[in-house]
Amino acid sequence: MKSKFTQIGFVLSAAGSAIGLGNVWKFPYMTGENGGGAFVLIYLITIFFVGITLFIAEVVLGRLSRTDPVGTFETLATKHGKKWKYAGFAIIGSMLIASFYMVIIGWILKYMYEMFVNLPSTIEASSAIFGGFVTADFNMQFILFNLVFFIVFFIVSKGIKGGIEKANLILMPLLILILGFMLFYSFSMDGFGKSFEFLFYPDFSKVTGKTIITAVGQAFFTLSLGVGTIMTYGASLSDDTNIVKSSFQVAFLDTFIALMAGLIIFTLIFQYNAEPAQGSGLVFISLPTLFYQLGSFGNIIGMLFFVALAFAGITSAISMIEPSVFFMIKRFKFSRVKALFAVGAPVYIFGTMSLMTNIDNLKRFVTYFGIGFFDILDKLTTLWMMPISGVCVAVFTGYFVKKELVYNLLSKHMSDTLFNIWYFAIRYVAPISVIIILINGIIGS
Ligand code: PHE
Repeated sequence: MKSKFTQIGFVLSAAGSAIGLGNVWKFPYMTGENGGGAFVLIYLITIFFVGITLFIAEVVLGRLSRTDPVGTFETLATKHGKKWKYAGFAIIGSMLIASFYMVIIGWILKYMYEMFVNLPSTIEASSAIFGGFVTADFNMQFILFNLVFFIVFFIVSKGIKGGIEKANLILMPLLILILGFMLFYSFSMDGFGKSFEFLFYPDFSKVTGKTIITAVGQAFFTLSLGVGTIMTYGASLSDDTNIVKSSFQVAFLDTFIALMAGLIIFTLIFQYNAEPAQGSGLVFISLPTLFYQLGSFGNIIGMLFFVALAFAGITSAISMIEPSVFFMIKRFKFSRVKALFAVGAPVYIFGTMSLMTNIDNLKRFVTYFGIGFFDILDKLTTLWMMPISGVCVAVFTGYFVKKELVYNLLSKHMSDTLFNIWYFAIRYVAPISVIIILINGIIGS
């Protein structure tokens, strides 16, 4: 990346990365599957105590090294740089996520059109449409996946600063506006009270080791942590950007949108007595029925909603491809185009395999040890790779980077007390809590 981000450009791009399908698609369905309030509480606590701490650390590392994640670990290490550099290969995680993520963006494109022409009147009808598409229509999904793939790679080929910052500037507010409108509409529904209760009254009897690790994984996923994305963006931060303030802004916006989406979706679920634990179809099944309630206006709102969601998804997908591309350019002196091919090939193959997982008569080819490839990628990255890499980032920043370097950078934007709290969190709170949770997850599953 030749030029540097301005402060607002950085906040927008990092928010563009953080805010995505994780907020509107994944957060609600995971909350539904994991019993509601207690899951949300653990998620919020993780964002606040571990997520923001690590987010700041990733920005700091990128900003200090001004290079790709592998080079960052290698050059900033006070010792064992040759070994630490392997921690930078967390960027592989972002490629794996990109593969299944782009399949879902494909579904969203289909729904942009679907909302415009045909809104289902009941949850049952909506389930049938979604199920039919995802489990049987390979061709359409494949075409849409290809389309998304080319859009994303085309934008990355141009460098991320040009069009994408501008698109974010328009579409992120649009997404908030549409969600705001929908939230306002859900206030008037009977389901709203139940939805609120479901999300904010924790029932700890539902918490298991798996709930905790899932909530923690989701907190990492939603902040784009542990895969080199934030580090890569940090590498092109301008010198005077306030890292602390920007990180809080991104985390706030990200959490706000997830909670908003959750409130809206569960209002509908309870309004129509549907099942909260529906899995990945939740957004695609329940929301269209609300749009139906809005009459012909619903077609437009529905379409706009999926347009905004598609853009939120695309800006995130871009941020998953960029770290590996940046790495190839920096380390192997590849041209951007050559790097795109090297990164694109595995993403394309894995994406196609994830897509096949949902198709009834193809899934047996991509099921390993009884688990579909889509789930393997999702669980492997979110539950394991991201948290483990988070521990590496914390331990590395806390023990293997010169404290003065970090202090000099951060003290401009935080008081000494705050710095000490953050430094304590990065050395002790973040690594220890995540390790305990990982162990607990292994024992619990
Ligand atoms: N944070 C994005 C979301 O919530 C997903 C993401 C993960 C983006 C990892 C970049 C890297 O949708």
